[in-house]
Amino acid sequence: MMDVNMRIEKFSDPADLAQAAATRFMSVIGAAVRRRGRASVALSGGATPKAAYRRLTTPLFADSIEWKRVHIFWGDERCVPPDHRDSNYHMANETLLSQVPIPTENIHRIRGEEEPHTAAENYEKVLRSFFGDAEAHFDLVLLGLGKDGHTASLFPSSEAVLLEVQGLQNRWVFANYVDKLATWRVTLSTILINASPHIIFLVTGPDKAKAFKRVLHGPYIPEELPAQLIRPQKGRLIWMLDKSAARLI
Ligand code: 6PG
Repeated sequence: MMDVNMRIEKFSDPADLAQAAATRFMSVIGAAVRRRGRASVALSGGATPKAAYRRLTTPLFADSIEWKRVHIFWGDERCVPPDHRDSNYHMANETLLSQVPIPTENIHRIRGEEEPHTAAENYEKVLRSFFGDAEAHFDLVLLGLGKDGHTASLFPSSEAVLLEVQGLQNRWVFANYVDKLATWRVTLSTILINASPHIIFLVTGPDKAKAFKRVLHGPYIPEELPAQLIRPQKGRLIWMLDKSAARLI
């Protein structure tokens, strides 16, 4: 991934990383609101971002962000109802959104309770309506990294990834069946992710170290390592890792 505008930041532990991630969220989102009157962010699911989301509810951050001008989206969603423990919306709502004064209409969840293809189509309509004719991109995209090199719900050898690798992906949102989990997911494709000026991976824990090293320094094999598909067109890719996740580089 050497020809990508990329930066690696290492932190002593997940708490330090969470503080830094919340600080960067506030900075990027604040700048976007000042510049254009609104900001949009695609949140990551999984467990890693929880600490950063909780940090954003503390006064230093919560009182400095103009939540009424912030629009929340997701990079992917599990095909479950919004109150399900596996729902990425549910996680973000519990750790962040229910704790800050963000208008309900600014929260654009993927409707995981719908049939996956319908949910994907509807979410793409929401995104196209939100961005309108402007150059579509989120101001900030947060991503995680799976031990298998997946990100969002772009899993190795899944249909969504095969289309990406072949350069055939023309949708912003895709219903993607994940064989190893025997479940459907709804995921952004790389089109909107790579259009963002700020793409940030949050990665913690020793079990991610090997995947991170392979993604960063291994051969370019995006079908096996879909996180290698994340290559900002004009923006910057920032890897924020704790030292255990970064121990092999
Ligand atoms: C999801 C995420 C997924 C996640 C990675 C890492 O829906 O689970 O979008 O891509 O970021 O699997 O998950 P952890 O943070 O739980 O390790």
